[in-house]
Amino acid sequence: MPTATTTTELLSSSQLNGGPKKDANKTDEEPYKYAHLMQTWSTQKYPPLEPFEHVDAGSRALKHPKPRSFLESANVTEMTPEFGSDVRGCNLAELSSDQKDQLALEVARRGVIVFRGQEDFIDRGPKFYTEWGRHFGPLHIHPLAGHPEGYPDIHLVYKDKNSRFNVQESITTTVWHSDCSFELQPAGLTAFWLLSQPETGGDTLYASQVLNLRSLSPIMANFLRTLKATHSAFGTMRSKGRRGSLYVNKQMTKSIVGMKREESDVLLNFLYDHVAMSTDHQVRIKWEPMSVVVWDNHVTSHTATSDYAHLKARRHGARISAQSERPIPTLDSLKMDD
Ligand code: SIN
Repeated sequence: MPTATTTTELLSSSQLNGGPKKDANKTDEEPYKYAHLMQTWSTQKYPPLEPFEHVDAGSRALKHPKPRSFLESANVTEMTPEFGSDVRGCNLAELSSDQKDQLALEVARRGVIVFRGQEDFIDRGPKFYTEWGRHFGPLHIHPLAGHPEGYPDIHLVYKDKNSRFNVQESITTTVWHSDCSFELQPAGLTAFWLLSQPETGGDTLYASQVLNLRSLSPIMANFLRTLKATHSAFGTMRSKGRRGSLYVNKQMTKSIVGMKREESDVLLNFLYDHVAMSTDHQVRIKWEPMSVVVWDNHVTSHTATSDYAHLKARRHGARISAQSERPIPTLDSLKMDD
């Protein structure tokens, strides 16, 4: 049957993409500038994370007379009215301690911010990344991910022409999640940047879990506020000045505590669909080289987009995540340990 698919199959991928393009990452023979940041896996076993009292860096900026002054000479574009900003002209590497506090507050306010033109930050290297990140809390060591030699608290993502993309098993590579929601004190402020990227594709999408909760009917939102879920992912939580947000994700939330399996499945699947379908609460980051994205992992979800397998390109990213407070149900009557 002559279908669009048949026509597409007759075209080579370079024809489909408008002719041959320079692939900045297909230079396997040349020395790779970020070879020192390739993934290694240590056999070291880390002890369980110790509880600690978290002081949010953003809360320190609340009393600042001008809590957004770190952006004074920057060009800020709001990606949507309430969620996501795109910033040019602010060098993250040069922020003072006070300005880092302001950054944390602004990230809590906007959910996610992409900072462009960050070659100074990116090229300072792993020792600098970790020192910078520790301002916001103890850095989380990802229990499964690879890291640069000697820097277990830098989490790397890496794909190249030899990588497996899960397009055979699923119709989409979209996996909405917040990082490591199974930890008792999961990551809050998180920074992520690409060291190498495909010429097109590999975007990262973010969803506001504050707006996702707020858009529900009061009856549903209030019901969710009474719930918590296993794997340390609670039905709802509050943080950053008691902004309620959804705190569930398909990857790590297992069930709602106290519900029967079918009840829990129906409710969680409704919430997963709500997060995925609510494009009015989402932004899509297109990765210009030398961008750093900073987000509040407590109140946003994100997903990578692995749509570039046929480009045979390298996508290499690094992330630092500062552990934060424990997500808590929004009703005071629920005790954390029951
Ligand atoms: C992630 O999904 O956690 C990483 C984000 C990305 O690779 O775009």
